Amino acid sequence: MPNVVVVGTQWGDEGKGKVVDLYAENADVVARFQGGNNAGHTLVVDGKKTVLHLIPSGILHNNKICIIGNGVVIDPDILIQEIESLHSRGLFPSNTKLYISENAHVIMPYHKRIDTAREGLKKIGTTGRGIGPAYEDKVSRQGIRVSDILDEAIFREKLQRRLKETNFMLTQYFHEEPLNEEEILERYLGYAKYFKPYVADTSLIMAKEMRMGKKILFEGAQGSHLDIDHGTYPYVTSSNTVSGNASCGTGVGPLAIHAVIGICKAYTTRVGEGPFPTELNDEFGEQMQVIGNEFGATTGRKRRCGWLDLVLVRQSMRVSGITGLALTKLDVLRGIEKIKICVAYNLRGEEFTESLPSRPDLLAQCEPVYEEMDGWTEDITTARTIDDLPKNARRYVERLEILANAPCVIISVDASREGTIVMKNPFERS
Ligand code: GDP
Ligand code: IMO
Ligand code: MG
Repeated sequence: MPNVVVVGTQWGDEGKGKVVDLYAENADVVARFQGGNNAGHTLVVDGKKTVLHLIPSGILHNNKICIIGNGVVIDPDILIQEIESLHSRGLFPSNTKLYISENAHVIMPYHKRIDTAREGLKKIGTTGRGIGPAYEDKVSRQGIRVSDILDEAIFREKLQRRLKETNFMLTQYFHEEPLNEEEILERYLGYAKYFKPYVADTSLIMAKEMRMGKKILFEGAQGSHLDIDHGTYPYVTSSNTVSGNASCGTGVGPLAIHAVIGICKAYTTRVGEGPFPTELNDEFGEQMQVIGNEFGATTGRKRRCGWLDLVLVRQSMRVSGITGLALTKLDVLRGIEKIKICVAYNLRGEEFTESLPSRPDLLAQCEPVYEEMDGWTEDITTARTIDDLPKNARRYVERLEILANAPCVIISVDASREGTIVMKNPFERS
């Protein structure tokens, strides 16, 4: 049975949440495989908006299994708030199950403190949610996992050891107050009690579901250019956001994946610091920001906006093996007379067409090479088939398909579920 991965092709906020919610209809299991509550995935269903940070975007559907995989870092407080908020709004279907990997790492108070303290020294523009320091502890084998907090003695011992070093760093290096061991212990043991019914060997659950012929939808967070290896380092997040991590981050073999859908906004946005070759500081950037309502779903920060950048998208296509694109927010470009698409960068005479220069200082010097296309003035938010789109909007889609060398499987024209033109369903094998 086809299993599908959804990833972002830009710097995040491409509309992954909307597409995952839509695709969840076809899947039995929806799994997050990386990131944490730095993500903010927006779903608009029956006019109601839901922003999810940790819970997979399949949760609004009946009869699904939602998995928070081993590759995710979990802030327990945020996860509890999310679960409770869904219940209180009547949005957590009673026949849909949520499981949390026992191997997922837990975000601790010192992670958040170190994250924000470090921003004072070198600004990355992080979400301040402790994501980087939590992944650092995982990699240096000092992390505390979900299974650890379920056992008081093990948790106490690990916390004691870790606090010795982090309190030293907080007080001696950042000149901040130390954290109190007993307070953390008490709070997190409370979380552990809450989470116990959800904790499981999620890799095994997924294997059993697949054996029964069930379909899996893997939900990426962030975007390809925020990937720790393939992104615009150091202005990236601290996990692998590319499709390959769907396998590691859930404990499912890579051959189980049959299609990779890259979500691509019709223009480009970025939150936080870092080079952005097609960034616009003019009326067009302002239009994208205002009409596109480009405010971070997690931090509320204004997103930086610019033209669609095919160099970015081509690199993402390659590193994630993308088989189809979902073009989102096409409606936002309405009324722009001449729309630009960046097809290459010029770096002092050297041309880049499908790969970014590795160094941020060089990327910052890249001059975008643009193609120009005629825009449209019609409202396209009610379009439901490709033929409903004005000629120039169709041309924009066709040009993207040629430049990216991939088909558009979805064209999204509105934030709602209905505001979508579905060209091909990746769960149906052709
Ligand atoms: P994600 O992080 O990739 O899931 O994206 P976000 O939810 O952070 O940001 C995407 C924003 O665009 C959300 O507010 C969505 O509701 C909204 N959105 C998604 N698709 C469309 C679309 O086609 N048109 C418009 N106007 N808004 C959209
Ligand atoms: P979704 O899943 C957009 C950005 C932050 C910052 C950098 C590092 O909603 O697309 P971090 O807190 O992860 O250490 O911050 O990464 N960032 C995102 N930008 N969308 C996201 O998630 C992001 N998650 C992290 O703004 O520049
Ligand atoms: Mg987002």
